[in-house]
Amino acid sequence: MIRLVVERCYPPRSVDALVQIVFQGKDGRPLLQGVRALAGGDIIPEAGTGFAAREKETILLFPKNLAAPRILLVGAGSDGAWSAERLRRSAAIAARVLRGAGVRSAAFMEPGAAMLGPLGDDPAETYGTALAEGIFLGLYRFDRYRTVTVTPPDLLARIVILAGGEPNERAMRRGVSYARTVCEATCLARDLANAPPNALYPGTLAEAARAAGRRSGFSVSVHDERKIRALGMGGLLGVGGGSARPPRLIVMRYGGRKRRRGAPRPVVLVGKGVTFDSGGISIKPSAGMAEMKMDMAGGATVIGVMQAAAALRLPGPLVGIVPAAENLPGPSAFRPGDILRHANGMTSEVDNTDAEGRLMLADALAFAATFRPSLVIDLATLTGAVVVALAHVTTGMLGTGEEAMRALEESGRRVYERVWELPMFEEYEALIRSDVADVKNTGGRWGGAIAAAMFLKKFAGGTPWVHLDIAGTAILEEGGDYTVKGGSGVGVRLLVDFLRRRRA
Ligand code: BES
Ligand code: MN
Ligand code: ZN
Repeated sequence: MIRLVVERCYPPRSVDALVQIVFQGKDGRPLLQGVRALAGGDIIPEAGTGFAAREKETILLFPKNLAAPRILLVGAGSDGAWSAERLRRSAAIAARVLRGAGVRSAAFMEPGAAMLGPLGDDPAETYGTALAEGIFLGLYRFDRYRTVTVTPPDLLARIVILAGGEPNERAMRRGVSYARTVCEATCLARDLANAPPNALYPGTLAEAARAAGRRSGFSVSVHDERKIRALGMGGLLGVGGGSARPPRLIVMRYGGRKRRRGAPRPVVLVGKGVTFDSGGISIKPSAGMAEMKMDMAGGATVIGVMQAAAALRLPGPLVGIVPAAENLPGPSAFRPGDILRHANGMTSEVDNTDAEGRLMLADALAFAATFRPSLVIDLATLTGAVVVALAHVTTGMLGTGEEAMRALEESGRRVYERVWELPMFEEYEALIRSDVADVKNTGGRWGGAIAAAMFLKKFAGGTPWVHLDIAGTAILEEGGDYTVKGGSGVGVRLLVDFLRRRRA
């Protein structure tokens, strides 16, 4: 990731460009008094250029009297609508323009009161975090498999954030440091989701978890097929049965190793780890099937959250569980009609092998209960139905953990990874009734995201549990200001914010 530092005041030590985020005045013209004063009146972008400081508008100017040869103005719209999210976007837009212009280093000008005011209780820290998130996430690209250089070459190596005073400087450093950790974890989750399925399969996903554990300080155990069988995980074995790459159960632990009596109960995170979902015998149509390399995005997010939680020394204990398998057709694949036995002894009828995620999560949720958790949260690219309902904007949330769901809504608004609760009324139970087993893995045509959650609920036991269906938000068809097409790493910033507030 790019070098990002906080310095106290203008002028910054030598940089190629300055960046000024500019509000639009009521008269529709950019509010530029500050820089204009610094530059001795030398900045008049609106003359002839039409720059009006509308949101997302940018202009690169070459004034004479500033501490850098150029200044990038980034429009922010009216200050009445200013927010951390606008700042994140503005920072990302700026970073991308700077990279595109071949700039090597740049400094964001000190924020004024209008820019800090709306940012909440600790505005300077929030400013540092949101600005840094925009930069780190906006500059992300997945290019490790390219061998020919992309244009333009990336020269951008250093960005300075000017604080405008000492107390702000300290708070902004805190904010930037936090952002660096959560964005590294988000980009790890993106990289894992974007990795091709010939390179990323259950065994290598487990290796990635191990590497993250070594780097940031959490323990990782990886269970192979024999152990998975011994744990009674017929769902995970069934889904993984068709692949030559055997399934794995990845178990990560951070904080509170010893299970003493009276020790705090852990939060358990469970992430769906289908490294490729062909649909199995109930095979998917070929159009768009390649996207299903990202069907382990929930697992990737759990690995990312473990990494960030350990790096930030958040209060534990925290457990991460990722059941990993590849869903392929083949002579040893599971079939429609099969009845599987899960880790808690319950049975499920396989009506469709493409509803595989819930079968593996059933085992993982039953296993999660053995940690005596205070809360279980699962993340899964579980249903196309949730994408129909909420598109790529909002994560579907269902569950029994009311308190946690309210807190997740709050965290979702803060970090702008918003969640929306869908109902689990008892009538929906009928959807997944089976004639031959305890439960059936499909629910018919309607309410698919709810049917899937009703299935999971059977395995969540009595513990407060939240299910996040990230099928739409983890896999993006197009990029945004600080996301790119492909894996978004959604859930990392959400859960890290949730966890740090939970026991703060
Ligand atoms: N991994 C898919 C869900 C999915 C769809 C994720 C689109 C991301 C984008 C899941 O395993 C699946 O295939 N679900 C089926 C369930 C159905 C067969 C009951 C679906 O949603 O169509
Ligand atoms: Mn599927
Ligand atoms: Zn799937």
